[in-house]
Amino acid sequence: MGRGEVTRCPRQYLPTMGDSPCWLHEFDDFSMTTTPTSAIASDLTAWLDAQNERIHTELYQFLRIPSVSAQEQHKADMTRAAEWLAKSMSDAGLKTEIMPTGGHPAVVGEWRGAGANAKTVLIYGHYDVQPPEPLDLWTTPAFEPTLRDGKIFARGSVDDKGQLFLHVKAIEAHLATRGKLPVNVIVLAEGEEEVGSDNLAPFIERNRARLTGDYVVISDSSMFAPGLPSILSSLRGLAYFELTVQGPAGDLHSGSYGGAVVNPAMALARILATFHDEQWHIAIPGFYDEVHDWPAAVRQQMRALPFTDDEMRAETGTPALGGEAGFTTLERLWTRPTCEINGLLSGYTGEGAKTVLPAKAMAKVSFRLVPDQTPQQIERVLTAHVQRVAPAGVTATVKALHGGRAWRADLEGPLFDAARRALAAAFGREPVITGEGGSIPVVGDFERILGVPVLLIGFGLPGENAHAPNEWFSDDNFVKGMKAIAGLWDELR
Ligand code: BES
Ligand code: MN
Ligand code: MN
Repeated sequence: MGRGEVTRCPRQYLPTMGDSPCWLHEFDDFSMTTTPTSAIASDLTAWLDAQNERIHTELYQFLRIPSVSAQEQHKADMTRAAEWLAKSMSDAGLKTEIMPTGGHPAVVGEWRGAGANAKTVLIYGHYDVQPPEPLDLWTTPAFEPTLRDGKIFARGSVDDKGQLFLHVKAIEAHLATRGKLPVNVIVLAEGEEEVGSDNLAPFIERNRARLTGDYVVISDSSMFAPGLPSILSSLRGLAYFELTVQGPAGDLHSGSYGGAVVNPAMALARILATFHDEQWHIAIPGFYDEVHDWPAAVRQQMRALPFTDDEMRAETGTPALGGEAGFTTLERLWTRPTCEINGLLSGYTGEGAKTVLPAKAMAKVSFRLVPDQTPQQIERVLTAHVQRVAPAGVTATVKALHGGRAWRADLEGPLFDAARRALAAAFGREPVITGEGGSIPVVGDFERILGVPVLLIGFGLPGENAHAPNEWFSDDNFVKGMKAIAGLWDELR
């Protein structure tokens, strides 16, 4: 039994807790025994139910705009998406403006009618999406949202337009039913998350006074399993590089020159092969200098989650899972840094055979980071290592593309407690605490620049195909997500 079936008998997964720290026991039973559940206010849920059709029509309009931040050809669509969102936010009752960032614009909307004694929450999301290619693998077109089997299929449905939009509708639910919100809200939607958020930290610095409140709330992640609401406790960081190996000035006949001129593709393969040892431990000297043991309490809690290797093997269609020796799968995904090749380019890859000695080879290589690694430190150790191992006869160059630090939450305080109550009310069961292997670089920036805690509660699901063909967002989670967030603002009152 795996993640998809957790609702049936979760107890069967529970390890013996022994002498583990007592706060873990709050999560060792997925039924609601620890938090008295207050229902989401019925005026809000009734309004959201009554508006359900219009809300979906609007979401589909938003999803139809191909806001692909990485592709120049979609520059006008990015503007169109920002304008559509700004209009939707002001219709919801937010004072909204489109603000330049140096890249794609940010959309900022505010409602500050709760007064100086109420909490102020910054909600962050992104309206840009990943490229939809390869197009032929989509069952229905990427930018023609389609509801099938309770899933909303479209690029950006779950990452992150649908999750951003549910926040707008939760705000609208309050303002439409009561004319006010229990908290002051600022919505910040950026258009460059999928290309590394390079312009966002400076934007936050410049607008610090305006953006600083008590909390940041983000829905741009997933639940651990269907029906199992989740609060995220960590994200990995990222350091992304392009590694180029240059040999001869141009491509050569591999018979006339092969054996006497070093082959850049072979040289690149040899360099890449030095990045790990036989145990999938990263073998770049200095790479683990800033890696520290994960808190025992968090590791223990991870073991209580309903998860089997076999289910992940099936979910991914891989012959067998594999990774760094000495760690469980969830530890590998959430608590350990990695090195991945994201792309390889060299020589002849077309039909049939061509005897060529390519002039050049290139690899896209990225590292997922954990606290307290920095992209700068990884760039230093990687560059030094590549220069050391690159064979004579080629020139190897490392170019940094983008990066961001990892993040780990302090899951305490009124915001976290309010989130637990709101999620329990919307989903009918206590949330679990999960980790994440992916990255949202700006999360660390928010904490650093604004000095306030960040809460990540996402409503995606395993298998949602984010970044891949046939991305989908569970319609049930979209609806419950709106209710959970609407309820969260009542809980924070
Ligand atoms: N929403 C994701 C991050 C994420 C992925 C959270 C999976 C939870 C589960 C975000 O949009 C994303 O894709 N981030 C990129 C990093 C970015 C710098 C391109 C990533 O993790 O690769
Ligand atoms: Mn995202
Ligand atoms: Mn993404």
